[in-house]
Amino acid sequence: MKKENKNRKESLLDSDVKVNDIAVEKDLRPKYLKDYIGQEKVIEKLRILIEAAKKRKEPPEHILFHGPPGLGKTTLSHIIANELGVNIKVTAGPVIERAGDLAAIITNLEENDILFIDEIHRLNRAVEEIMYPVLEDFVLDIVIGKGPSAKTFRINLPKFTLIGATTRIGLVTAPLRDRFGATYRVDFYDIDSLKKILKRSADILGLKINDEAIEELARRSRGTPRIANRLLKRVRDYAEVKADGKINTDIVNDALKLMEIDEMGLDAMDKKILNTIIEKFKGGPVGIDTIAVAVSEEPDTIEDVYEPFLIQIGFLQRTQNGRKVTEKAYDYFKIKKNSQEKLFNE
Ligand code: ADE
Repeated sequence: MKKENKNRKESLLDSDVKVNDIAVEKDLRPKYLKDYIGQEKVIEKLRILIEAAKKRKEPPEHILFHGPPGLGKTTLSHIIANELGVNIKVTAGPVIERAGDLAAIITNLEENDILFIDEIHRLNRAVEEIMYPVLEDFVLDIVIGKGPSAKTFRINLPKFTLIGATTRIGLVTAPLRDRFGATYRVDFYDIDSLKKILKRSADILGLKINDEAIEELARRSRGTPRIANRLLKRVRDYAEVKADGKINTDIVNDALKLMEIDEMGLDAMDKKILNTIIEKFKGGPVGIDTIAVAVSEEPDTIEDVYEPFLIQIGFLQRTQNGRKVTEKAYDYFKIKKNSQEKLFNE
């Protein structure tokens, strides 16, 4: 698991926020393909994969989802299980520490089950190597003892489907990647899809919110349904405490101002990252580890959580020599290149 940084503030971008938020997120997740909004190309391919598997009465090939956090990798995995009418067992790469942990999970699977492994790029090498014959031939080879007296036992497994998810496709080794029959990239959502998702969520939660407020929230959700739903929930709290519970653009603006989220959906850490590169490193290029130390955040978190959106909106570039802030970002913050101005006061 990622190391915990005790100094940092809770962020809307966190994947491990409050229990209450997680419960709400689960309620809001679509359960079947027909309810899923956005990612049309992925959905179309999944529809075919699922139909074909049903026709053949066989589990689908192993599936790998990759892309930034909060874009639906876990939701889609549960949808596949629901559509096929099979069980899904959920675990994560860092949790499977030893071969025995993997054996315990895998020998408990039933025919056609789905095994979902989140953060699959964090599987350790020894576990990963045991996975290869499991995935290819549905056999688990267990070695007991060491040296010349070591014995290998082979256990036949039921046919199941592994669904792996990762925010870092580049860290999934080639042999593991090769064992997935289908690989899908999830991408940031457009404003229209986010508006539909927010409308659906507002209906489920029974909120009174007008179209402009939905639009404003959609624009400030970083292309990410998880963030859209969290913002909606925080804005609901604000409307209930500060007004009559109805949500309009003024309420959205006030609530988001309090949360330090700007017009583009950038939060305090996004600005800190950009500000640091501009002020301390003349706009870059600068290495990720140096940025991480300067902003007191884990390099992994910056790469997984913050960078993808900053790159997507064209504020940050990854170059061979490190990260560079773009002209577009300078323009957005109204800073002249090579000036000593600050993005915000610390
Ligand atoms: N809630 C979260 N993500 C969603 C999506 N893609 N479609 C519908 N509702 C969602």
